[in-house]
Amino acid sequence: MEKIAILGTGYVGLVTGAGLADFGNHVTCVDLDESKIETLRSGKIPFYEFSLGEVVERNVREKRLSFTSDLQKAIKGARTILIAVGTPPGKGGEADLSQVFGAARTIAEQMTSYKLVVQKSTVPVGTGEKVHKLIAEVLKKRGKNTPFDVASNPEFLREGSAVEDFMRPDRVVIGTWSKKAEQILSEIYRPLYLSETPMIKTNVQTAELIKYASNAFLATKISFINEMANICEAVGGNVRTVARGMGLDGRIGPKFLHAGPGYGGSCFPKDTLALADFSKKIGVPSKIVGATIDVNKRQRLKMQEKVESLVGNLKGKEIAVLGLSFKPQTDDVRDSVAIEMIKGMQRKGATIRAFDPIAMETAAKEVRNVEFSEDAYAAAKGADALVIATEWNEFRQLDMNKIKKLLRSPKVVDCRNIYDPEKMRAAGFQYLSVGRAMNEGFSGSSEAKKPARKKKK
Ligand code: UDX
Repeated sequence: MEKIAILGTGYVGLVTGAGLADFGNHVTCVDLDESKIETLRSGKIPFYEFSLGEVVERNVREKRLSFTSDLQKAIKGARTILIAVGTPPGKGGEADLSQVFGAARTIAEQMTSYKLVVQKSTVPVGTGEKVHKLIAEVLKKRGKNTPFDVASNPEFLREGSAVEDFMRPDRVVIGTWSKKAEQILSEIYRPLYLSETPMIKTNVQTAELIKYASNAFLATKISFINEMANICEAVGGNVRTVARGMGLDGRIGPKFLHAGPGYGGSCFPKDTLALADFSKKIGVPSKIVGATIDVNKRQRLKMQEKVESLVGNLKGKEIAVLGLSFKPQTDDVRDSVAIEMIKGMQRKGATIRAFDPIAMETAAKEVRNVEFSEDAYAAAKGADALVIATEWNEFRQLDMNKIKKLLRSPKVVDCRNIYDPEKMRAAGFQYLSVGRAMNEGFSGSSEAKKPARKKKK
């Protein structure tokens, strides 16, 4: 049983804290924001994450998990300290590390015995080294020779299934520069050895890069299939079949090949920008990641263009938007395509009605003048077009006859390809999706505008 303090009770900090406590460790989650600590102490979770509440409650009850804003006490009481503070993007796309360095400095100022300082937040390669240097400098100034180690233990948690991802990860990455640090971290994750989870033990800089490389690769897969979707639209193909045809090749794999409105959320946009930024700064710019970012930006804009191609000028139009979170099973609207679309359509004079099963409260802080509806049907009533922006399960089985009657004109933009284009067209909808110009077995129709023929002179 390791005594652990986790600095930062955001998404990563809280899931990790609850998970490590569940593994039998003694965990104190620290946040300087006292109101957050009060919320947690009263048994509430400050954001929505499936089953996290149960795990937190169980471990608090069994006295393995506690919350405090007393940083000094938490540092004193723990041997291992995880830094899980925010690393928001700075102006140039670089990760803003001020909170990480702030946390490291505080640890160095207050430690009186050996500490293992573990970096959980996603940080550019080389940050571990900087943190090590910073702690050593502060200790030197204090005239102390207290031993410490710095390690990297990146997270791979998906929102909506973060608890499951923590309990049953594909792998655990442990980046250290000392045997002692490696042993402590291995022991913390001991329950996962029983389930034969692969453990990647490496140095700190490699661990830092594994995290960026993983996220950038997944983002690249998405941008790649979105490019193929655009090609499908131009040539009359079906991107879902392309993805299936590619994905069955074991070397490619079927996952993360869903064409859509481009990736969003708190990780991919931020991490791809940071990787592009720091790879450039160290003189080995990643061209592929740069292209992934560009394709994604373009893809997101294309969704609004699809709406415009159906309804024409957006001025004075009423548009119903279904789904506001960046993906289902979360109330997170960070870098959500739905939010970007809403703002873009409003700028062009459209009125927006929206519905999301969970994320309306968080969305209300990001957008203005949006009428939030009580369900999908209420949103559709009288609208000039319906946009499916997020693929919540409850949007997969809508009564389309009812929707058709409710809409002012039967126009649907399905950014997530959850409906069948032929069935929608047969039901009388003008229906646009992503990269599906036709159904299997049928050729000759194309969602894409045919290039204008040159007039013969
Ligand atoms: C991601 C990583 O999966 C996780 O390992 C990392 O630690 C944090 O970032 P998350 O952002 O929660 O997790 O969501 P994820 O399910 O990966 O989706 C990210 C974005 O990609 C979403 O906007 C989603 O809609 C989009 N996406 C995903 C696609 O457009 N197509 C796909 O095939 C998969």
